[in-house]
Amino acid sequence: MRKVFIKTHGCQMNEYDSEKMLDLLSEKEEFESTNNPEEADLLVLNTCSIREKAQEKVFHQIGRWKKLKDKNPNIKIAIGGCVASQEGKKITQRAPAVDIVFGPQTLHRLPKMYSDAAQNLSRQLDVSFPKIEKFDHLPQSKTDEVTAFVSVAEGCNKYCSFCVVPHTRGHEVSRPVEDILNEIDSLASRGVREVNLLGQNVNNFKGTYKNEKKSLAFLIEKTSQITGIDRIRFTTSHPYEFKEDLVELYKFVPELVSHVHLPVQSGSNRILKLMRRRYTSSFYLDLIARIRESRPNISFSSDFIVGFPGETDKDFQDTMDIVDEVGFDESFSFIYSPRPNTPASEMEDNVSIEIKKERLSILQHKLNELSSKISRKMVGTIENCLVIGVSKKNPGELQARTENNRVVNFPSHKDVVGNFENIKIVDQLTNSLRGELERF
Ligand code: SAH
Ligand code: F3S
Repeated sequence: MRKVFIKTHGCQMNEYDSEKMLDLLSEKEEFESTNNPEEADLLVLNTCSIREKAQEKVFHQIGRWKKLKDKNPNIKIAIGGCVASQEGKKITQRAPAVDIVFGPQTLHRLPKMYSDAAQNLSRQLDVSFPKIEKFDHLPQSKTDEVTAFVSVAEGCNKYCSFCVVPHTRGHEVSRPVEDILNEIDSLASRGVREVNLLGQNVNNFKGTYKNEKKSLAFLIEKTSQITGIDRIRFTTSHPYEFKEDLVELYKFVPELVSHVHLPVQSGSNRILKLMRRRYTSSFYLDLIARIRESRPNISFSSDFIVGFPGETDKDFQDTMDIVDEVGFDESFSFIYSPRPNTPASEMEDNVSIEIKKERLSILQHKLNELSSKISRKMVGTIENCLVIGVSKKNPGELQARTENNRVVNFPSHKDVVGNFENIKIVDQLTNSLRGELERF
Protein backbone atom coordinates (compact mmCIF):
# COMPACT_ATOMS: atom_id res chain seq x y z
CA MET A 1 0.00 0.00 0.00
CA ARG A 2 1.20 3.48 -0.85
CA LYS A 3 0.65 6.26 1.63
CA VAL A 4 -0.84 9.71 1.13
CA PHE A 5 -0.71 12.68 3.47
CA ILE A 6 -3.38 15.31 2.80
CA LYS A 7 -3.28 18.75 4.39
CA THR A 8 -6.37 20.92 4.08
CA HIS A 9 -6.60 24.68 4.33
CA GLY A 10 -9.77 26.75 4.25
CA CYS A 11 -13.48 26.07 4.16
CA GLN A 12 -15.75 23.08 4.68
CA MET A 13 -15.97 22.62 0.93
CA ASN A 14 -12.23 21.97 0.93
CA GLU A 15 -12.64 19.46 3.77
CA TYR A 16 -15.27 17.67 1.70
CA ASP A 17 -13.02 17.72 -1.36
CA SER A 18 -10.09 16.32 0.63
CA GLU A 19 -12.21 13.42 1.84
CA LYS A 20 -13.14 12.71 -1.77
CA MET A 21 -9.48 12.79 -2.83
CA LEU A 22 -8.73 10.14 -0.26
CA ASP A 23 -11.71 8.02 -1.37
CA LEU A 24 -10.50 8.23 -4.97
CA LEU A 25 -6.87 7.45 -4.19
CA SER A 26 -7.73 4.53 -1.96
CA GLU A 27 -9.94 3.07 -4.67
CA LYS A 28 -7.90 3.61 -7.81
CA GLU A 29 -4.30 3.82 -6.70
CA GLU A 30 -4.43 1.71 -3.56
CA PHE A 31 -3.41 4.42 -1.19
CA GLU A 32 -3.95 4.59 2.50
CA SER A 33 -3.95 7.75 4.54
CA THR A 34 -1.12 8.64 6.91
CA ASN A 35 -0.79 11.38 9.51
CA ASN A 36 2.96 11.43 9.07
CA PRO A 37 4.24 13.33 6.01
CA GLU A 38 7.67 11.70 6.40
CA GLU A 39 6.34 8.27 5.44
CA ALA A 40 4.12 9.46 2.57
CA ASP A 41 4.59 8.65 -1.14
CA LEU A 42 2.24 11.46 -2.06
CA LEU A 43 1.85 14.79 -0.29
CA VAL A 44 -1.31 16.72 -1.14
CA LEU A 45 -2.02 20.30 -0.14
CA ASN A 46 -5.63 21.42 -0.63
CA THR A 47 -5.22 25.19 -0.66
CA CYS A 48 -7.32 28.27 0.12
CA SER A 49 -6.97 31.71 -1.45
CA ILE A 50 -9.79 33.59 0.29
CA ARG A 51 -7.32 35.93 2.01
CA GLU A 52 -3.69 36.71 1.31
CA LYS A 53 -2.50 35.05 4.53
CA ALA A 54 -4.04 31.73 3.51
CA GLN A 55 -2.31 31.97 0.17
CA GLU A 56 1.10 32.73 1.69
CA LYS A 57 0.93 29.53 3.70
CA VAL A 58 1.09 27.50 0.48
CA PHE A 59 4.66 28.30 -0.45
CA HIS A 60 5.87 27.89 3.12
CA GLN A 61 4.34 24.42 3.17
CA ILE A 62 5.87 23.50 -0.18
CA GLY A 63 9.25 24.64 1.20
CA ARG A 64 8.92 22.25 4.14
CA TRP A 65 7.87 19.37 1.92
CA LYS A 66 10.71 20.03 -0.52
CA LYS A 67 13.13 19.04 2.24
CA LEU A 68 11.42 15.64 2.48
CA LYS A 69 11.63 15.29 -1.27
CA ASP A 70 15.33 16.13 -1.26
CA LYS A 71 15.80 13.09 0.98
CA ASN A 72 13.47 10.87 -1.02
CA PRO A 73 13.05 11.93 -4.68
CA ASN A 74 10.24 9.38 -5.21
CA ILE A 75 7.87 11.51 -3.16
CA LYS A 76 5.35 13.38 -5.29
CA ILE A 77 3.90 16.74 -4.27
CA ALA A 78 0.41 17.72 -5.44
CA ILE A 79 -1.21 21.13 -4.99
CA GLY A 80 -4.99 21.40 -5.30
CA GLY A 81 -7.74 23.81 -4.31
CA CYS A 82 -8.23 27.51 -4.92
CA VAL A 83 -4.62 28.73 -5.01
CA ALA A 84 -3.90 26.03 -7.59
CA SER A 85 -6.89 27.18 -9.60
CA GLN A 86 -5.87 30.83 -9.37
CA GLU A 87 -2.14 30.49 -9.95
CA GLY A 88 -2.02 27.38 -12.20
CA LYS A 89 1.33 27.05 -13.92
CA LYS A 90 2.89 29.82 -11.83
CA ILE A 91 3.05 27.36 -8.94
CA THR A 92 5.38 24.95 -10.72
CA GLN A 93 7.42 27.86 -12.04
CA ARG A 94 7.93 29.24 -8.55
CA ALA A 95 8.18 25.82 -6.89
CA PRO A 96 9.77 23.22 -9.20
CA ALA A 97 9.42 20.58 -6.47
CA VAL A 98 5.69 20.44 -7.22
CA ASP A 99 4.72 17.52 -9.51
CA ILE A 100 0.95 17.92 -9.79
CA VAL A 101 -1.34 20.96 -9.86
CA PHE A 102 -5.09 20.38 -9.93
CA GLY A 103 -8.19 22.50 -9.29
CA PRO A 104 -11.35 22.02 -7.23
CA GLN A 105 -13.18 20.79 -10.34
CA THR A 106 -10.50 18.34 -11.49
CA LEU A 107 -9.77 16.51 -8.25
CA HIS A 108 -11.28 13.31 -9.68
CA ARG A 109 -8.36 13.21 -12.10
CA LEU A 110 -5.80 13.11 -9.27
CA PRO A 111 -5.27 9.29 -9.38
CA LYS A 112 -4.42 9.41 -13.08
CA MET A 113 -2.25 12.50 -12.63
CA TYR A 114 -0.41 10.70 -9.84
CA SER A 115 0.22 7.54 -11.84
CA ASP A 116 1.54 9.62 -14.76
CA ALA A 117 3.75 11.64 -12.44
CA ALA A 118 4.98 8.48 -10.71
CA GLN A 119 6.18 7.20 -14.08
CA ASN A 120 7.97 10.52 -14.45
CA LEU A 121 6.01 11.24 -17.62
CA SER A 122 5.96 14.96 -17.00
CA ARG A 123 4.71 17.56 -14.60
CA GLN A 124 0.92 17.31 -14.38
CA LEU A 125 -1.25 20.45 -14.58
CA ASP A 126 -5.04 20.53 -14.86
CA VAL A 127 -7.00 23.39 -13.32
CA SER A 128 -9.82 23.46 -15.87
CA PHE A 129 -13.54 23.66 -15.04
CA PRO A 130 -15.13 20.60 -16.67
CA LYS A 131 -18.78 21.13 -15.84
CA ILE A 132 -19.43 19.30 -12.57
CA GLU A 133 -18.21 16.00 -14.06
CA LYS A 134 -16.26 15.20 -10.90
CA PHE A 135 -19.32 13.94 -9.05
CA ASP A 136 -19.79 11.18 -11.62
CA HIS A 137 -16.36 9.84 -10.71
CA LEU A 138 -16.51 9.79 -6.95
CA PRO A 139 -16.66 6.42 -5.18
CA GLN A 140 -19.02 5.87 -2.25
CA SER A 141 -17.86 7.29 1.03
CA LYS A 142 -16.36 4.90 3.57
CA THR A 143 -16.86 7.22 6.50
CA ASP A 144 -17.26 5.97 10.04
CA GLU A 145 -18.26 9.37 11.42
CA VAL A 146 -21.79 10.28 12.47
CA THR A 147 -21.75 13.67 10.72
CA ALA A 148 -20.92 14.31 7.07
CA PHE A 149 -20.53 17.13 4.59
CA VAL A 150 -22.35 16.78 1.29
CA SER A 151 -21.52 19.17 -1.52
CA VAL A 152 -24.75 20.08 -3.30
CA ALA A 153 -23.63 23.00 -5.44
CA GLU A 154 -20.26 24.15 -6.73
CA GLY A 155 -18.96 27.60 -7.59
CA CYS A 156 -20.61 30.98 -7.20
CA ASN A 157 -22.05 33.62 -9.56
CA LYS A 158 -22.55 36.34 -7.01
CA TYR A 159 -19.26 38.13 -7.63
CA CYS A 160 -19.22 40.05 -4.36
CA SER A 161 -16.63 42.71 -5.12
CA PHE A 162 -14.10 41.43 -2.54
CA CYS A 163 -14.35 37.71 -3.20
CA VAL A 164 -12.07 35.41 -5.16
CA VAL A 165 -14.34 32.34 -5.05
CA PRO A 166 -16.19 32.87 -8.36
CA HIS A 167 -12.75 33.10 -10.00
CA THR A 168 -11.31 29.97 -8.41
CA ARG A 169 -14.30 27.64 -8.18
CA GLY A 170 -16.08 28.71 -11.35
CA HIS A 171 -19.74 29.17 -12.17
CA GLU A 172 -22.45 28.01 -9.86
CA VAL A 173 -23.70 24.53 -10.75
CA SER A 174 -26.16 22.48 -8.69
CA ARG A 175 -26.03 18.70 -8.56
CA PRO A 176 -29.17 16.75 -9.46
CA VAL A 177 -31.36 16.10 -6.40
CA GLU A 178 -31.44 12.33 -7.05
CA ASP A 179 -27.62 12.11 -6.97
CA ILE A 180 -27.47 14.01 -3.70
CA LEU A 181 -30.17 11.88 -2.09
CA ASN A 182 -28.33 8.71 -3.19
CA GLU A 183 -25.18 9.99 -1.55
CA ILE A 184 -27.04 10.83 1.67
CA ASP A 185 -28.82 7.45 1.61
CA SER A 186 -25.50 5.70 1.45
CA LEU A 187 -24.10 7.89 4.26
CA ALA A 188 -27.14 7.09 6.41
CA SER A 189 -26.58 3.37 5.85
CA ARG A 190 -23.06 3.82 7.27
CA GLY A 191 -24.47 5.40 10.43
CA VAL A 192 -24.36 9.11 9.57
CA ARG A 193 -27.02 11.01 11.55
CA GLU A 194 -26.29 14.61 10.59
CA VAL A 195 -25.55 16.11 7.18
CA ASN A 196 -24.27 19.56 6.34
CA LEU A 197 -25.31 20.51 2.80
CA LEU A 198 -22.54 22.59 1.27
CA GLY A 199 -22.43 25.26 -1.39
CA GLN A 200 -20.75 28.66 -1.62
CA ASN A 201 -24.20 30.11 -2.07
CA VAL A 202 -26.16 27.06 -1.04
CA ASN A 203 -29.59 28.60 -0.70
CA ASN A 204 -29.59 29.44 -4.39
CA PHE A 205 -29.56 25.68 -5.04
CA LYS A 206 -31.39 24.80 -8.28
CA GLY A 207 -30.84 21.09 -8.77
CA THR A 208 -33.12 19.02 -10.99
CA TYR A 209 -35.53 16.39 -9.72
CA LYS A 210 -37.38 14.37 -12.37
CA ASN A 211 -36.22 17.02 -14.87
CA GLU A 212 -37.65 19.92 -12.89
CA LYS A 213 -35.57 22.52 -11.09
CA LYS A 214 -36.02 22.38 -7.32
CA SER A 215 -35.05 24.64 -4.45
CA LEU A 216 -32.93 24.05 -1.37
CA ALA A 217 -36.13 23.81 0.70
CA PHE A 218 -37.26 20.88 -1.47
CA LEU A 219 -33.88 19.16 -1.10
CA ILE A 220 -33.95 19.61 2.69
CA GLU A 221 -37.45 18.22 2.95
CA LYS A 222 -36.48 15.15 0.91
CA THR A 223 -33.34 14.73 3.00
CA SER A 224 -35.37 14.86 6.21
CA GLN A 225 -37.35 11.85 4.99
CA ILE A 226 -34.25 9.63 4.81
CA THR A 227 -34.28 7.19 7.72
CA GLY A 228 -31.40 7.87 10.08
CA ILE A 229 -30.83 11.49 9.07
CA ASP A 230 -32.19 13.49 11.98
CA ARG A 231 -30.18 16.66 11.77
CA ILE A 232 -29.67 18.90 8.76
CA ARG A 233 -27.45 21.94 8.41
CA PHE A 234 -26.62 23.97 5.32
CA THR A 235 -23.75 26.40 4.62
CA THR A 236 -23.22 29.06 3.38
CA SER A 237 -26.33 31.12 2.87
CA HIS A 238 -26.48 34.42 1.07
CA PRO A 239 -29.15 36.68 2.62
CA TYR A 240 -30.35 37.75 -0.85
CA GLU A 241 -31.15 34.16 -1.81
CA PHE A 242 -32.90 33.11 1.40
CA LYS A 243 -36.25 32.31 -0.21
CA GLU A 244 -39.66 32.27 1.46
CA ASP A 245 -40.07 28.47 1.12
CA LEU A 246 -36.87 28.05 3.15
CA VAL A 247 -38.11 30.49 5.81
CA GLU A 248 -41.40 28.54 6.01
CA LEU A 249 -39.60 25.20 6.22
CA TYR A 250 -38.48 25.98 9.77
CA LYS A 251 -42.10 25.61 10.84
CA PHE A 252 -42.48 21.97 9.89
CA VAL A 253 -39.10 20.27 9.45
CA PRO A 254 -37.72 19.56 12.94
CA GLU A 255 -34.59 17.94 11.46
CA LEU A 256 -33.51 21.39 10.31
CA VAL A 257 -31.37 22.76 13.15
CA SER A 258 -32.31 25.95 15.01
CA HIS A 259 -29.17 27.66 13.86
CA VAL A 260 -28.32 29.54 10.66
CA HIS A 261 -25.01 30.84 9.41
CA LEU A 262 -25.97 33.98 7.54
CA PRO A 263 -22.97 36.16 6.58
CA VAL A 264 -23.83 39.86 6.69
CA GLN A 265 -20.26 41.18 6.10
CA SER A 266 -21.14 44.77 7.11
CA GLY A 267 -23.95 46.75 8.71
CA SER A 268 -23.37 49.83 6.54
CA ASN A 269 -25.57 50.19 3.47
CA ARG A 270 -22.88 52.21 1.72
CA ILE A 271 -20.30 49.47 2.23
CA LEU A 272 -22.77 46.68 1.40
CA LYS A 273 -23.36 48.41 -1.93
CA LEU A 274 -19.63 48.69 -2.61
CA MET A 275 -19.34 45.02 -1.69
CA ARG A 276 -22.11 44.23 -4.22
CA ARG A 277 -24.01 42.21 -1.63
CA ARG A 278 -27.47 43.12 -3.05
CA TYR A 279 -29.15 43.78 0.29
CA THR A 280 -29.39 46.53 2.90
CA SER A 281 -29.10 46.20 6.65
CA SER A 282 -32.88 46.59 7.02
CA PHE A 283 -33.48 43.79 4.47
CA TYR A 284 -31.15 41.62 6.52
CA LEU A 285 -32.87 42.47 9.81
CA ASP A 286 -36.28 41.83 8.29
CA LEU A 287 -35.10 38.40 7.07
CA ILE A 288 -33.85 37.56 10.56
CA ALA A 289 -37.24 38.59 11.99
CA ARG A 290 -39.10 36.39 9.49
CA ILE A 291 -36.94 33.35 10.23
CA ARG A 292 -37.44 33.96 13.95
CA GLU A 293 -41.17 34.05 13.39
CA SER A 294 -40.96 30.60 11.77
CA ARG A 295 -38.66 29.21 14.44
CA PRO A 296 -38.54 31.12 17.73
CA ASN A 297 -35.24 30.76 19.66
CA ILE A 298 -33.24 30.13 16.50
CA SER A 299 -29.66 31.42 16.69
CA PHE A 300 -27.63 33.15 13.99
CA SER A 301 -23.94 33.28 13.27
CA SER A 302 -22.26 35.47 10.71
CA ASP A 303 -19.12 36.53 8.81
CA PHE A 304 -17.82 40.10 8.93
CA ILE A 305 -15.20 42.00 6.98
CA VAL A 306 -13.68 45.11 8.57
CA GLY A 307 -11.55 47.72 6.83
CA PHE A 308 -13.17 47.41 3.41
CA PRO A 309 -11.87 50.25 1.13
CA GLY A 310 -13.40 53.52 2.28
CA GLU A 311 -14.91 52.17 5.51
CA THR A 312 -15.42 55.12 7.87
CA ASP A 313 -15.93 55.17 11.64
CA LYS A 314 -19.64 55.64 10.95
CA ASP A 315 -19.73 52.57 8.64
CA PHE A 316 -17.99 50.52 11.28
CA GLN A 317 -20.44 51.76 13.91
CA ASP A 318 -23.29 50.54 11.66
CA THR A 319 -21.68 47.07 11.77
CA MET A 320 -21.45 47.21 15.56
CA ASP A 321 -25.11 48.27 15.70
CA ILE A 322 -26.31 45.31 13.63
CA VAL A 323 -24.24 42.97 15.80
CA ASP A 324 -26.02 44.30 18.86
CA GLU A 325 -29.41 44.21 17.25
CA VAL A 326 -29.18 40.58 16.11
CA GLY A 327 -27.21 39.21 19.07
CA PHE A 328 -25.11 36.83 16.96
CA ASP A 329 -23.85 33.47 18.10
CA GLU A 330 -20.21 32.31 17.47
CA SER A 331 -19.16 34.22 14.34
CA PHE A 332 -16.16 34.89 12.12
CA SER A 333 -14.56 38.25 11.40
CA PHE A 334 -11.72 39.20 9.10
CA ILE A 335 -9.64 42.16 8.02
CA TYR A 336 -10.30 42.93 4.37
CA SER A 337 -7.67 41.42 2.10
CA PRO A 338 -7.42 42.55 -1.55
CA ARG A 339 -7.68 39.57 -3.91
CA PRO A 340 -6.48 39.25 -7.51
CA ASN A 341 -9.01 40.00 -10.28
CA THR A 342 -11.65 41.37 -7.90
CA PRO A 343 -13.22 44.84 -8.36
CA ALA A 344 -12.54 45.78 -4.73
CA SER A 345 -8.82 45.30 -5.29
CA GLU A 346 -8.95 48.26 -7.72
CA MET A 347 -10.47 50.51 -5.04
CA GLU A 348 -8.17 52.61 -2.94
CA ASP A 349 -7.36 50.59 0.19
CA ASN A 350 -7.33 53.74 2.33
CA VAL A 351 -7.97 52.41 5.84
CA SER A 352 -4.71 52.13 7.77
CA ILE A 353 -3.68 48.75 9.14
CA GLU A 354 -3.78 50.16 12.69
CA ILE A 355 -7.43 51.15 12.28
CA LYS A 356 -8.28 47.80 10.67
CA LYS A 357 -6.72 45.95 13.58
CA GLU A 358 -8.45 48.15 16.11
CA ARG A 359 -11.86 47.63 14.48
CA LEU A 360 -11.30 43.89 14.28
CA SER A 361 -10.43 43.76 17.94
CA ILE A 362 -13.48 45.82 18.98
CA LEU A 363 -15.75 43.65 16.85
CA GLN A 364 -14.26 40.37 18.04
CA HIS A 365 -14.51 41.47 21.64
CA LYS A 366 -18.21 42.17 21.15
CA LEU A 367 -18.80 38.90 19.26
CA ASN A 368 -17.06 36.90 22.01
CA GLU A 369 -19.13 38.65 24.63
CA LEU A 370 -22.34 37.78 22.79
CA SER A 371 -21.51 34.13 22.21
CA SER A 372 -20.32 33.74 25.76
CA LYS A 373 -23.65 35.19 26.91
CA ILE A 374 -25.45 32.55 24.85
CA SER A 375 -23.29 29.79 26.38
CA ARG A 376 -24.01 31.13 29.86
CA LYS A 377 -27.72 31.04 29.19
CA MET A 378 -27.41 27.40 28.11
CA VAL A 379 -26.04 26.39 31.52
CA GLY A 380 -28.83 24.68 33.44
CA THR A 381 -30.84 23.85 30.31
CA ILE A 382 -31.29 20.42 28.72
CA GLU A 383 -30.02 20.27 25.15
CA ASN A 384 -30.74 17.68 22.52
CA CYS A 385 -27.24 16.73 21.39
CA LEU A 386 -25.74 14.40 18.81
CA VAL A 387 -22.97 12.31 20.39
CA ILE A 388 -20.12 12.40 17.87
CA GLY A 389 -17.29 10.48 19.51
CA VAL A 390 -14.75 10.26 22.30
CA SER A 391 -13.69 13.55 23.87
CA LYS A 392 -10.42 14.88 22.41
CA LYS A 393 -8.94 15.85 25.76
CA ASN A 394 -10.24 13.07 27.97
CA PRO A 395 -10.60 9.57 26.51
CA GLY A 396 -12.87 8.66 29.43
CA GLU A 397 -15.48 11.11 28.21
CA LEU A 398 -17.68 11.49 25.17
CA GLN A 399 -18.23 14.54 23.00
CA ALA A 400 -21.52 15.79 21.63
CA ARG A 401 -22.75 18.76 19.62
CA THR A 402 -25.68 21.03 20.42
CA GLU A 403 -27.97 22.42 17.71
CA ASN A 404 -25.94 25.62 17.63
CA ASN A 405 -22.84 23.47 17.13
CA ARG A 406 -21.28 23.93 20.58
CA VAL A 407 -19.04 21.11 21.79
CA VAL A 408 -20.28 19.43 24.99
CA ASN A 409 -18.02 16.99 26.86
CA PHE A 410 -19.70 14.62 29.31
CA PRO A 411 -18.85 11.49 31.29
CA SER A 412 -20.56 8.34 30.09
CA HIS A 413 -20.18 4.67 30.94
CA LYS A 414 -22.13 3.62 27.90
CA ASP A 415 -21.21 3.92 24.28
CA VAL A 416 -23.90 6.28 23.02
CA VAL A 417 -21.93 7.57 20.01
CA GLY A 418 -24.34 8.20 17.13
CA ASN A 419 -27.29 8.74 19.45
CA PHE A 420 -29.24 11.90 20.08
CA GLU A 421 -29.22 12.35 23.85
CA ASN A 422 -30.69 14.88 26.25
CA ILE A 423 -27.72 16.42 27.99
CA LYS A 424 -27.95 18.84 30.87
CA ILE A 425 -25.43 21.65 30.47
CA VAL A 426 -23.65 22.09 33.81
CA ASP A 427 -20.75 24.41 33.05
CA GLN A 428 -19.34 26.81 30.47
CA LEU A 429 -15.62 26.68 29.58
CA THR A 430 -13.75 28.88 27.09
CA ASN A 431 -14.28 26.74 24.00
CA SER A 432 -16.73 24.11 25.12
CA LEU A 433 -19.50 23.19 27.53
CA ARG A 434 -19.67 20.48 30.16
CA GLY A 435 -22.72 18.30 30.47
CA GLU A 436 -24.36 15.33 32.14
CA LEU A 437 -26.52 12.70 30.51
CA GLU A 438 -30.17 13.15 31.46
CA ARG A 439 -31.97 9.96 32.26
CA PHE A 440 -35.72 9.90 32.47
N1 SAH B 1 -20.05 32.02 0.17
C1 SAH B 1 -19.99 32.60 1.43
C2 SAH B 1 -18.60 32.72 2.03
C3 SAH B 1 -17.39 32.84 1.20
S1 SAH B 1 -15.84 33.05 1.97
C4 SAH B 1 -20.83 33.87 1.53
O1 SAH B 1 -21.79 34.01 0.84
O2 SAH B 1 -20.57 34.74 2.35
C5 SAH B 1 -16.04 33.09 3.71
C6 SAH B 1 -15.89 34.44 4.29
O3 SAH B 1 -14.60 34.97 4.08
C7 SAH B 1 -16.82 35.48 3.72
O4 SAH B 1 -18.10 35.40 4.24
C8 SAH B 1 -16.12 36.77 4.07
O5 SAH B 1 -16.52 37.24 5.34
C9 SAH B 1 -14.66 36.38 4.12
N2 SAH B 1 -13.94 36.91 2.95
C10 SAH B 1 -14.15 36.64 1.66
N3 SAH B 1 -13.31 37.35 0.88
C11 SAH B 1 -12.57 38.11 1.71
C12 SAH B 1 -11.54 39.09 1.51
N4 SAH B 1 -11.14 39.43 0.30
N5 SAH B 1 -10.99 39.67 2.61
C13 SAH B 1 -11.41 39.34 3.86
N6 SAH B 1 -12.37 38.45 4.11
C14 SAH B 1 -12.95 37.83 3.04
FE1 F3S C 1 -17.91 34.95 -2.37
FE2 F3S C 1 -20.08 36.39 -2.35
FE3 F3S C 1 -20.07 34.06 -3.59
S1 F3S C 1 -18.73 36.06 -0.64
S2 F3S C 1 -18.58 32.85 -2.47
S3 F3S C 1 -18.91 35.84 -4.17
S4 F3S C 1 -21.71 34.91 -2.37
